[in-house]
Amino acid sequence: MSKINAAITAVGSFVPEDVLTNKMLEEMVDTNDEWITTRTGIKERRILKDPLKGTSFLGIKAAQNLIEKSGINPEEIDLVLFATATPDMPVASTAAYTASQIGAVNAFSYDLQAACSSFLYGMSTASAYIEAGRYKKILLIGADKMSSIINYTDRATCIIFGDGAGAALFEPNHEGLGHQDEILRTDGIGRNFLKIEAGGSLLPASEETVKNDQHYVYQDGKTVFKFAVSNMADVSEKIMLRNNLSGDDVDFLVAHQANKRIIDATSKRMKLDNEKVLMNIQRYGNTTSATLPLLLSDYEKQLKKGDNLVFAAFGGGFTWGSIYLKWAYNS
Ligand code: UT7
Repeated sequence: MSKINAAITAVGSFVPEDVLTNKMLEEMVDTNDEWITTRTGIKERRILKDPLKGTSFLGIKAAQNLIEKSGINPEEIDLVLFATATPDMPVASTAAYTASQIGAVNAFSYDLQAACSSFLYGMSTASAYIEAGRYKKILLIGADKMSSIINYTDRATCIIFGDGAGAALFEPNHEGLGHQDEILRTDGIGRNFLKIEAGGSLLPASEETVKNDQHYVYQDGKTVFKFAVSNMADVSEKIMLRNNLSGDDVDFLVAHQANKRIIDATSKRMKLDNEKVLMNIQRYGNTTSATLPLLLSDYEKQLKKGDNLVFAAFGGGFTWGSIYLKWAYNS
């Protein structure tokens, strides 16, 4: 039997319709469009305003978009992986609810949390199951309702994040296309610099934690920026060297959309021309677990069978890594 690779065979996405522009943020905190644009590359983000809807709403919409486009029968899905840092509730999993809502009645499901690297790590998990021959159809969803954990009086974080969702289907490929290699890393020192302090087992919710704003994202942006730039560029360069890929051999960089300057530093180290760098941060900001599948969905028509894609992400934890994947279809 030929070697099995795990290939992405379909993608889908969803963003809520409400737009939060830099101009609108100028009315909310001490910031301005020029600062946000030059420091981050972000012009606007999408916000899920309905207080009765959680992250599952976004993920279900993205999964339904994928199912509609690809025509797959949800009953054939073996596993639903839900990558998110903002689950509907701490217990039960957002994946279980989502799987039932999309009709994946024969699947098992679970959530996967690695902050902004959640989707990248999920790609590794999905690929490992497929390449082991254990499952044939794995739906990986990346979705976050970041607006539910952002303090809109904190200019250090509220200008960055947005809400969104994307989904990718992983299936076996016998032509050598799909997942080729990966380098994934973590460093626990990172939790001092990017965290939500309260609401977990270490500091359960109390009147005090609410009063102290400890249920919102805290970020020491400068420190995270430094780690992100060096680590994301390092692993991306390393995966190219290990697979004998030059800048000319790589067709597209699919990088986590946290800050345009971080993406530029990574692509520079990889010696990539600008047109090979997928970018939609200007429209969505940082959607955490959704950035990578949102890029795949937005650029799907440009991706050709056999293209060499390098994925890269960096996030809270710290968590980071790079995956080399050969694209498996023309749309
Ligand atoms: O996705 C998960 C991983 N997260 C990331 O990768 C994010 C990494 N960090 C970043 O992207 C950047 O650090 C930020 C965009 C968060 C901040 O950009 P920066 O260039 O690192 O700015 P800074 O924090 O060093 O602040 C520079 C200046 C300061 O003023 P002074 O001290 O130089 O007078 C800040 O007070 O800009 C000021 N500033 C702002 N001004 C207008 C900070 N935030 C703002 C703001 N609007 N929103």
